[in-house]
Order: sequence, then structure tokens, then C-alpha cells
Amino acid sequence: MKVWQQPLPPIYQKLSDAELRVRIDLAKQALGDKVVILGHHYQQDAVIDFADFTGDSFELSRKAAEQKDAQYVVFCGVHFMAESADILTNENVRVILPDLGAGCSMADMANLDQTLECWQQLEETCPDQRIVPITYMNSSAAIKAFVGEHGGAVCTSSNCRNVLEWALKGDAVRKTEGARGRGGEGENQKVKILFFPDQHLGRNTAHAMGYPLDKMVVWDPRLELGGNNPGKLREADFVLWKGHCSVHQLFRPEHVDQVREKYPDMKVMVHPECQFEVVQKADLAGSTAYIVKQVEAAPPGSQWAIGTEVHLINRLARQHPEQKIIVLSDCQCLCTTMFRIDLPHLCWALENLVEGPVVNEIKVDSHTRKWALVALERMLAIKGTGNPIGKAQPVGSTVD
Ligand code: 13P
Ligand code: SF4
Repeated sequence: MKVWQQPLPPIYQKLSDAELRVRIDLAKQALGDKVVILGHHYQQDAVIDFADFTGDSFELSRKAAEQKDAQYVVFCGVHFMAESADILTNENVRVILPDLGAGCSMADMANLDQTLECWQQLEETCPDQRIVPITYMNSSAAIKAFVGEHGGAVCTSSNCRNVLEWALKGDAVRKTEGARGRGGEGENQKVKILFFPDQHLGRNTAHAMGYPLDKMVVWDPRLELGGNNPGKLREADFVLWKGHCSVHQLFRPEHVDQVREKYPDMKVMVHPECQFEVVQKADLAGSTAYIVKQVEAAPPGSQWAIGTEVHLINRLARQHPEQKIIVLSDCQCLCTTMFRIDLPHLCWALENLVEGPVVNEIKVDSHTRKWALVALERMLAIKGTGNPIGKAQPVGSTVD
């Protein structure tokens, strides 16, 4: 269901932060257990202060699924996260995104029409292979539903490797009720992963699993056969959608070199949405939850250059003054859409809930919801490992 953004009443822009904080506190008190506020690690501190739970997209989707008694989940994150929360919660739980402009440029890089076109071309080119679609959480509910309907699963940066292992082992659903296309019956049939929309997470994870780069092709949705020749496409184990994160692409290999030269004892840790060359040069790579856990577990005096969204890095630096924590580069690594969730929007959304009207509700239609839930539940059933990448990590090692 398409919901249009109502304009933020001008009064909320005129209130000071102190006034907004008092009003948010009052609204939270008035709502009590009826409301749960979820905050992604990339949110600004002022918003995180009001979150009942914080986490990465995997942890927050688990938290959303646990909310049975709340009437409202206010999701301080971006649109695809709120959609997933709506799918994972019961019908009686209403999910609110305080600013509907909080989207994700990466999620917008794959739409359903392009996906259907890609699927048809892959099936025609590789008729004897079983194609398993895996989508990163950072995708629309429509893509998640497509994946669910075609025997695949969702993954996050926390459990990408586990989900790929599940798909490649042949655990992926061979024949799904209503699934179109060649579900594939043969035991020894070649399995090919169609991974979208982040080519970098797909490439970094597949490489960490031991797949050579020449077994991966990039699918450009604007080109016939994604810009590949049929032979190469048939040989590939991974077809990586040509999408990326506009924030993480700002980190470049030379930033790692510069840090190494200036601070020889500093460890470099990056999110797996960074490009391959950056991940290869880093000491550690993993999801936002993995990054947080590494810092929390590190002894005083540890030094980190971190390649991810700036709000998380600055928060870690403030919370751990006993360590030296810097941003990997001086690029503006700010997720501008996450940043749209601010105190005025949070206050407006909560005060409306107190008074009755629900603003900015995220509601996924029932057909999409049915199949997207299948894909999300497959993911939740697979244990996450923080998806450590880069330096060898034994398969199945866990951080949570
Ligand atoms: P996480 O899966 O680590 O929460 O990352 C989500 C995201 O959008 C990173 O850009
Ligand atoms: Fe999307 Fe990148 Fe922002 Fe994450 S950081 S929400 S992938 S634009």
C-alpha cells in the first residue's frame, strides 16, 4: 500500500531539542507498553536515546517479530526495515516510520519488473541449472516476496554466509507451492545464486567462502543478459545484481593505505557493503552488530579505523574513550536517508499515536506479505554468525 507523507506540522521544527525531548518522554509515558521504538545503529544519538531496542537490521527484525503485545512499533531506521517489521509482526501491530522519506538508495536499485526479466533470461540461458534467489534485507517487500515464492531467502549482513551455505548445500526449497520456473529436481544439478541488490556483500561473502572471482558475474538490469555472454553466465556460481550502497562505496583502498601509513598499530574494520578491494585490505569486516561487538570486546588502548556510517563510528568513539576510534576516511559517510529520522519527526509520530491518528504507517499488501514472510522466516531460522569476512573464519563460528 502506498502511503503519502503528510507534511510535518511547522510547530515541530520550531521546538528546541530540549522541548522535543520532554514531549517525546511524555508521549512515551502516555503510550506505555503500547509502543516499542526500534533504532538502527546508524541513527543519530538523539533518536537512539529513545529507542527501546537498538541493533543491526537482523537483530531488529528479530525484535520486531517478538512484539506480540505492542500496538505500535515505531521504526527508527529506513523503509525496507519498517516493511520487514510489518511483515514479521501480527496484523494487530501497526508499524510507523517517522519520516517516509527515509528510504535506501541501494534498495531502490532493484525493482520487481527488472527482477522478473532477469529471472526469465536466466532460466532461458541456464535451463539445466537450479537458480536460487537470495536478497539482502536492503530490498523492497516485492523483491523479498519474489524470493520467497521462488524457493530463496532473505539475508542480512549478519548472516549472509549462513544463508548462502543453506542455499548452496541444496537446503533451499526445491519446489515451492506456486513457484514459477524450473524449481529443479535433480540431485546433482548445478546451483546458481542470484544475489541482489548489493553486489559487494555478495562478492565479499562468496569470496570468503572460497569462490573465485571468475565464478561471479555482475547483472546490469539495463542490459540484455545483464551485460554477460551466455557461456559466462552458465559457468557462474553467483550472479550479482549491479547495486551498491552510496555510503559504503565512498571508502576506497587508498584510505586503508593512508591509515596504515599514519597509524601502523591501528586495525581497519569495515562493513561488507564496502567494495572488494577495501575488504581485502581491511583486517576485519562484518555487519554493524559485528563491528560493535569487536569494539566492545577490545582491550583499552585498542586502535580502530572503521569504514561504515559515521553516526555509529562516532557513537562507538564516545562510548569507548579508552580506545582510539576514527573514521576510515574523511569522506562524508553519512546515510542521509537514515538521518531524516530526527526528534521533530519522532515527536510528531508519537504525539499522534497518543491522540489517535496513526501517521506514516507502513502496510504491506497481503500477497506480498505472504511470500515475503516465507523468505524472512527462512532467514530467521538460519543462525547468524556476524558474517565475518576477509581473514579466514571457520564456517559456523558464532559471535552471538
Ligand atoms: P546491517 O545489516 O549491518 O544492519 O546494515 C544495514 C545497512 O543498511 C548497512 O548499510
Ligand atoms: Fe541503504 Fe547504504 Fe543507507 Fe544502509 S547506509 S540504509 S545500504 S543507503
